[in-house]
Amino acid sequence: MNWTAGTTVSAMQTRDEIIQLIRDKRTQLPTLSVVLDNILQIASDDRTSAQDLAEFIQQDQAIAHKILRLANSAYYGLARKVDSIARAITIIGFNEVVGLTLGMGMFSTLGQRTKQSGLDMRGLWLHSIGCGSACRILGTRMGHEEPNRLFICGLLHDTGKVLLAAYFPDDYERILDMAAGNGIALHLVERDQLGLDHAEVGGLLMEQWHFPSSLVLPCLHHHDDSDCPPDLLLDTAVVVVGNAVADKAEIGQSGNPAANEADHALDRLGLSSANLDELSMEILEKRERMEGFLEAAT
Ligand SMILES: [Fe+2]
Ligand SMILES: [Fe+2]
Repeated sequence: MNWTAGTTVSAMQTRDEIIQLIRDKRTQLPTLSVVLDNILQIASDDRTSAQDLAEFIQQDQAIAHKILRLANSAYYGLARKVDSIARAITIIGFNEVVGLTLGMGMFSTLGQRTKQSGLDMRGLWLHSIGCGSACRILGTRMGHEEPNRLFICGLLHDTGKVLLAAYFPDDYERILDMAAGNGIALHLVERDQLGLDHAEVGGLLMEQWHFPSSLVLPCLHHHDDSDCPPDLLLDTAVVVVGNAVADKAEIGQSGNPAANEADHALDRLGLSSANLDELSMEILEKRERMEGFLEAAT
């Protein structure tokens, strides 16, 4: 299959169609449940305690059940039965619970459509957890005030792919094949074929779901920060580097066959490519743990 850059008229029509789907209330794109919305709000606030999180999780039977099942799974190998959410959070870890809850929510909200596009949803979820973890480590080392928010940004940065795969499965399958067949970055093929990329789609969706701009913008600009407001350039750079780290460590599958360009972001953070390699090694050591975790959780 040949790939030639240059956005076409039909790509612009597809772009309008996608924007319409996200913005138009009549198309009934699922909304995030109130519980998930609350969890997202409190989890990105670095003052939230495990107890606060437990209280919100308890409001959703399905999520609460999954968290308890995970804490009681062979993965943790505990002798005594875990029967409270608060204790389950202590065992599983605050960020892991948030990652799992949001991942489950996002992916099941958008991904419950019959047709599959060839996007490896589980692989993408793992990629997102890897990216989020790298973002949190980076944030903590930089002395950032809100490393938990950076974790959530990393976790959500590729949400647009889930929407594209769920609502435009045939187009997206073709795009994934084109990118893979030609070794071209996925977001470039998306722009060419759809008139916009998954970062923009994810940004539009999160705006529609009323996520705070401190979460939306680093995701929206993770493949192009030229229009990013100055106060969020650093956070965006963290997501760009986190994304490159997850790719380099081969945590999960992002569907992108080309290496993500991170030099510009590394410069912005005062880091070198050697730092990126180090962080990738560090994340790589956690890969098995992340995989085992996801295995036990789903
Ligand atoms: Fe991306
Ligand atoms: Fe990514």
